[in-house]
Amino acid sequence: MTTTATTTATATTTATTTARTTDPTSATGGLAYGVTGTDTGVGKTLVAAAVAAALVRRGVRVGVLKPIETGVRSGNQPADAALLNAAAGGTQDLAIVCPFSFIEPLAPLVAAERAGRPIELVALDAAFARATSGCGATIVEGAGGLLVPIADGVTYATLFRRWQLELLVVAANRLGVLNHTVLTVQAAEAAGLRVRAVVLNSVTAGAPDLATSTNAAVLRRLLPNCPVVAFPYLADPHHIPALADAAESCGLLADLPLPVS
Ligand SMILES: Nc1ncnc2c1ncn2[C@@H]1O[C@H](COP(=O)(O)OP(=O)(O)O)[C@@H](O)[C@H]1O
Ligand SMILES: [Mg+2]
Repeated sequence: MTTTATTTATATTTATTTARTTDPTSATGGLAYGVTGTDTGVGKTLVAAAVAAALVRRGVRVGVLKPIETGVRSGNQPADAALLNAAAGGTQDLAIVCPFSFIEPLAPLVAAERAGRPIELVALDAAFARATSGCGATIVEGAGGLLVPIADGVTYATLFRRWQLELLVVAANRLGVLNHTVLTVQAAEAAGLRVRAVVLNSVTAGAPDLATSTNAAVLRRLLPNCPVVAFPYLADPHHIPALADAAESCGLLADLPLPVS
């Protein structure tokens, strides 16, 4: 990545930067993953935090980025960014982890327009450059799903492609997930993205019903070229060591290209 101006960590930054055009590992010194989902509330933050925590435990310096967080009440921290930061070791300024936050719980494009603070691609590029700087791995969490709008003509697919991220697709393991997951993977591939893994996330405790107990096997048949990993339900989803354990035990890290630590 070539950054051509210095920046501040605010949403009003006017920095300019160029997107990566080469191997993602060469620009950041490490790998960069984009975490998207089939919907909002499916476990993107949890899975992103779990991967971050597991990599940190393996000795990797991890950068995390939640480029835009909406539904952040006035005076509150952006909750997703805070969990990602904690999982990555808690070393970063939250304004760097989350450069754009908005009060209204809406898609970024809508929240930004209603706040009179449109989101500029150059500012997002600068935020990505800051988050990746010096890191062996970087994890970027989207919002909602892959085609959620950020600005006119810009979606998360645009950012993930622009930043050459390896994609993790998180899907809530419940009835309906087969359709939602295949739609997302097809949209990702159509956008030129590489899906590294589908993470089928257990979002409810207790005994699985017929759909939840059959979804993983069916997804593997429907997506034969893509690892499908079953992520467990966690009694305390904010417990960082448990998140790292889950990322390791479900095999997610085994399916990812990892930086040399
Ligand atoms: N595997 C899990 N075990 C326990 N709770 C989960 C799990 N996955 C998600 N949750 C809970 O579901 C809610 C939505 O998860 P979150 O990661 O915030 O989703 P997203 O980032 O996709 O909006 C959160 O309250 C989270 O703690
Ligand atoms: Mg989230």
